[in-house]
Amino acid sequence: MTGMSITRRILRKYAVLGTTLLVATVLYAQKPYPTAAQLSPTPPMGWNSWNHFHGSVNEADVKAAAKAMVSSGMKAAGYKYIIIDDTWQGKRNAQGFIQPNSKFPDMPGLIKYVHSLGLKFGIYSSPGPKTCAGYTGSYGHVKQDAETYAKWGVDYLKYDLCSYGKIIHEKAGNNMAKQRAMQEAAYEKMHKALVATGRPIVFSLCQYGTNSVWKWGASVGGNLWRTTGDIQDNYARMAKIGFNQAGLAKYAGPGHWNDPDMLEIGNGGMSVEEEETHMSLWALLAAPLIAGNDLAHMTPETLAILTNRAVIAVDQDKLGKEGTRIWQEGPLQVWVKPLEGGAKAVGLFNYSGSPHIMTFKLSMIGFPADAHMRDLWKHENVHAKDGKYTVEIPRHGVVMLRVTR
Ligand code: GLA
Repeated sequence: MTGMSITRRILRKYAVLGTTLLVATVLYAQKPYPTAAQLSPTPPMGWNSWNHFHGSVNEADVKAAAKAMVSSGMKAAGYKYIIIDDTWQGKRNAQGFIQPNSKFPDMPGLIKYVHSLGLKFGIYSSPGPKTCAGYTGSYGHVKQDAETYAKWGVDYLKYDLCSYGKIIHEKAGNNMAKQRAMQEAAYEKMHKALVATGRPIVFSLCQYGTNSVWKWGASVGGNLWRTTGDIQDNYARMAKIGFNQAGLAKYAGPGHWNDPDMLEIGNGGMSVEEEETHMSLWALLAAPLIAGNDLAHMTPETLAILTNRAVIAVDQDKLGKEGTRIWQEGPLQVWVKPLEGGAKAVGLFNYSGSPHIMTFKLSMIGFPADAHMRDLWKHENVHAKDGKYTVEIPRHGVVMLRVTR
């Protein structure tokens, strides 16, 4: 064997090894980021700290909520994200990486605990220098923050405009097109930073429904976007937000959902009938079901509303179609959501302060007079007469039906 051929053989061996390594690296690096529809095929379900704890939330509260989500049966009913909202942030370290504040002494440990319960973990930030509660935002540190979240094991990010609105206003004035472009750029920047980490993270946009976000939220990587200002724990505000969603159905679908804000069920400001309206309306709207109460201390009534499987199934229906209002007369409204397999969910709502008799005609949804109807709150079958179902709806209440041919 000549010296020449030995060198060639060694070279060839290294070439083969090198190519194999290269292909393996490329394949690994190219492990595709999930599509939006894979990330959030149905509206996200979980719990968020804000509506009950506001700025006081701490590690113990979050642990207790996660534990209660499992022990109460909420996890089994489909709830899975434990999301810390505003006020967890501390200062940045010398390298610019965000640190949690003293309320959250061990964020990676807390996230590990949440994961150990079979749940997923969500966190909160803002494209602005400050969050809405005045804590440190991601401004100037978007890439670093995305990397930190991925390193910690975060699965969901709520990204709230807050102080970035002021920056936009300073730069764009009242130029709506420029305002929108700046919002789009800010959200897309974080989306790209999240994708670059390779960790699947559901991206929740919060800018209060300005600049018709439903028209562009999906194109900047949003899996859900708030369509309104903040909800409050009272019927008037909840109903205003919920019933005002009419017209937005065409913008929602698997991977990209309209978000009329988190639930107030169990926070004490609404009657059982009002909370049933809240849950029914959100399910018909294919809205994210993010509980906002104190899970560790809830009443059996609250739990029953939050875990009504038949109503949750309407929200989580695989077709992913948001419902629409098909009829309205005075305080009475009928909303319909098409379901997989041809069934329809129907909500008969009474907005007024006194009970009302209402007649629902099966022909309103194009169904035959002998269609099968189930009342999803009473958990019983109900029957139409000559294709009409007449029923009393409580004040601020609802009758929710699942109708099949
Ligand atoms: C805004 C959001 C709320 C909540 C608070 C926190 O008001 O809309 O959902 O996140 O900020 O400060």
